[in-house]
Amino acid sequence: MSDNETYSEEVLEAGRLMFARPWDFLTSVTDMANLPPAAGTEIAFAGRSNVGKSSLINALTGRKGLARTSSTPGRTQMLNFFVAPETPLTIVDMPGYGYAQAPKELVEAWTNLVFSYLRGRPNLRRVILLIDSRHGIKKNDLEAMELLDKAAVVYQVVLTKADKIKPPALVRLIDETKAALAKRVAAHPEIIATSSEKNRGVDELRAELCNLATQ
Ligand code: GTP
Ligand code: MG
Repeated sequence: MSDNETYSEEVLEAGRLMFARPWDFLTSVTDMANLPPAAGTEIAFAGRSNVGKSSLINALTGRKGLARTSSTPGRTQMLNFFVAPETPLTIVDMPGYGYAQAPKELVEAWTNLVFSYLRGRPNLRRVILLIDSRHGIKKNDLEAMELLDKAAVVYQVVLTKADKIKPPALVRLIDETKAALAKRVAAHPEIIATSSEKNRGVDELRAELCNLATQ
């Protein structure tokens, strides 16, 4: 996608190769005691429920059914870990936040798990914070950013469902989002616009993640 940062052919190719490997599900955890041993670079995908986290992980790995997707919001309620053989990168699909119908105890359990994970995971290198292109940054996204700023975890905004808005609106959204992030301490300045449906921005995200895991 032309609005995205440009990566060299070499980096794009390295990203493509890393995600052409047989990515597989490792484990799901609901509490810190069961986390897999910290190895290599970990990148976690976070965002409101239904923003497209699982779909983007499927698009990255080219495996449609890898992370479960659902039109029922709030489905992913655990930390799900994905790995590939001999690859120094682990991808974590985090529970979505902001699901209005979730019972209060469940919301608290999520917040506790997510916060403990964010603070306590030594090999967590970056959180990919997904924002729906149709909605932009909402109040609960700002709360998530506060949490990440507090946990001192670098986060990068990735816009999802870019196929759902017109190109000029996407350009505006990218500018507005960058301006909003400029004020935040732990925010990575570059953002990537993606569509899992149309496979847009997916090569760029592969390149970015590959860079993080290999540098
Ligand atoms: P939770 O696990 O419930 O937090 O949701 P999630 O963030 O993992 O979202 P998921 O990937 O399950 O996608 C939610 C809905 O959005 C599904 O109906 C997807 O088909 C749809 N969706 C995801 N990505 C895209 C996209 O790039 N374009 C369009 N048009 N729809 C998408
Ligand atoms: Mg999901």
